[in-house]
Amino acid sequence: MNDSRKRRAQDYIIFALDVPGPQAAEPYLASLRGRVGMFKIGLELFVRGGPAIVAHVRRKSGAPVFLDLKLHDIPETVRRTTAGMAELGVAFATVHCSGGRRMLEAAVAGAAGQVGILGVTVLTSRPAGRSGGSAPPGADMTAEVVRRARMAMASGCAGVICSGLEAAAVRKAADGDFKIVTPGIRPAEAAVRDDQRRIVTPAAAVAAGADYVVIGRPIRDAADPAAAAGAIARQIREALGQEPKPA
Ligand code: C5P
Repeated sequence: MNDSRKRRAQDYIIFALDVPGPQAAEPYLASLRGRVGMFKIGLELFVRGGPAIVAHVRRKSGAPVFLDLKLHDIPETVRRTTAGMAELGVAFATVHCSGGRRMLEAAVAGAAGQVGILGVTVLTSRPAGRSGGSAPPGADMTAEVVRRARMAMASGCAGVICSGLEAAAVRKAADGDFKIVTPGIRPAEAAVRDDQRRIVTPAAAVAAGADYVVIGRPIRDAADPAAAAGAIARQIREALGQEPKPA
């Protein structure tokens, strides 16, 4: 269930800390503290900051960490890796659904209830159309994302990563508090010049049933990242019907 009453709009925002190293992360940890619900560490920061970066980000930001290393390997290797991630104290970690059910189950087993395993369905940088190959009709993409989400659910994953375009279909197929995490978010006013293809606005993603929106460049590259996060939170608040009425 997407319990919008208990959560504040900023709790929906996961900031993708896609920066070249620990030093470059510092200004964001300070300025976004209390303005986003979670910080996501990806490959770029992890390879330079090492495992110690997780505790550092948690301490400086006061927020949980999502370790987005998108694992895809043999089940035993994945199990041993998520066991290590559990020791790091991360809230969420990602594995590719395309690795198959045994790999997803191994990831969940390694995490031992300490880390929420999220299955990456189909990268949002893939254009709409067939998820694997060159690009016929969009319906195939939704069907494939839902198929992978069902597999993730059956494997004990905490949720999935999917685009906002598929969030409603996944929400319909998912039960209980299966988490839907949506990257490829672009604020309504932003021009699209980058590599994301299956994009939606923060408000549309939340309205479609997303529990979290992952936002990187629209906040990272803004002249005032804190203000950009605030503007996105306002849009989410409106989508949740939490916006206070003007006096
Ligand atoms: O800068 P932008 O808002 O596009 O950042 C998106 C973030 O979400 C990146 O860190 C990227 O690795 C991540 N992500 C994604 N698509 C997925 C899973 C994760 O874009 N399916």
